[in-house]
Amino acid sequence: MIIILSGAPGAGKGTQGSYLQERLGYIKLSTGDVLRQHVKQESPIGLEAKSYMDRGELVPDEILVGLIEESTKSIGLGETIILDGFPRTVHQAKSLESLRHPVGAFLNLEVQESELVKRLSARRVCAQCGASYHLVEAPPQKDGCCDRCGGSLFQRDDDKAESIQVRLKVFQEKTSPVVDFYKDRRLHYGIKGSGEPEEVYKRLLRTLNDLQLEVNR
Ligand code: AP5
Repeated sequence: MIIILSGAPGAGKGTQGSYLQERLGYIKLSTGDVLRQHVKQESPIGLEAKSYMDRGELVPDEILVGLIEESTKSIGLGETIILDGFPRTVHQAKSLESLRHPVGAFLNLEVQESELVKRLSARRVCAQCGASYHLVEAPPQKDGCCDRCGGSLFQRDDDKAESIQVRLKVFQEKTSPVVDFYKDRRLHYGIKGSGEPEEVYKRLLRTLNDLQLEVNR
């Protein structure tokens, strides 16, 4: 079964998706992470995706639909897949309907725009292990250096002020209709995404429990 973790840029999809993966054994598929890996490897997909990503725009649907089909095809039907960052357009949402894995829930993390901007502009990421820091709320012990592995920290190109504004606008225009798509199918659940990450996780778990999707761990 697929559980979609949705929300605006900076809503906490990656953070909560990792918790669900580590604590419940779900399989997390993050399209942002997969694309960044392609960019790093300078693959044909990466070369095409990079300019869209740096500007904060969406990478074309054909690329994303292909990536998801490829990534899910070897996953057993008994597994729970967390989709982080997909679908972001109605076209992408429709493409999921032809997969073998059914969509069980669309969980939408809701956070105010001013908070999103604060989170994204202060984010720094480890170039080596991918750990994420917040310069004010969760700074590294040593400036510019990852606590976990000692790697150097950098700011994502799309976390610069101009790109953040584009990403928020693109989210409103292209991804908001996806919310209605899942409301129509009665799969949409809004979850307050502000507060400590652990509080948000508890809210997610409560929703999954209510849906009887959570395994008692
Ligand atoms: P992607 O990587 O998916 O970026 P995004 O959606 O903009 O999401 P972010 O990773 O910025 O935020 P998040 O919601 O995961 O939050 P996080 O947990 O990291 O996509 C990047 C690009 O790839 C897109 O712009 C697009 O170009 C392309 N792309 C990807 N998927 C695509 C698709 N399906 N179609 C087309 N193009 C696609 O948290 C953010 C920060 O906040 C962190 O510093 C974190 O520590 C902090 N934080 C998290 N939770 C809390 C909390 N509760 N309180 C305080 N701080 C918190």
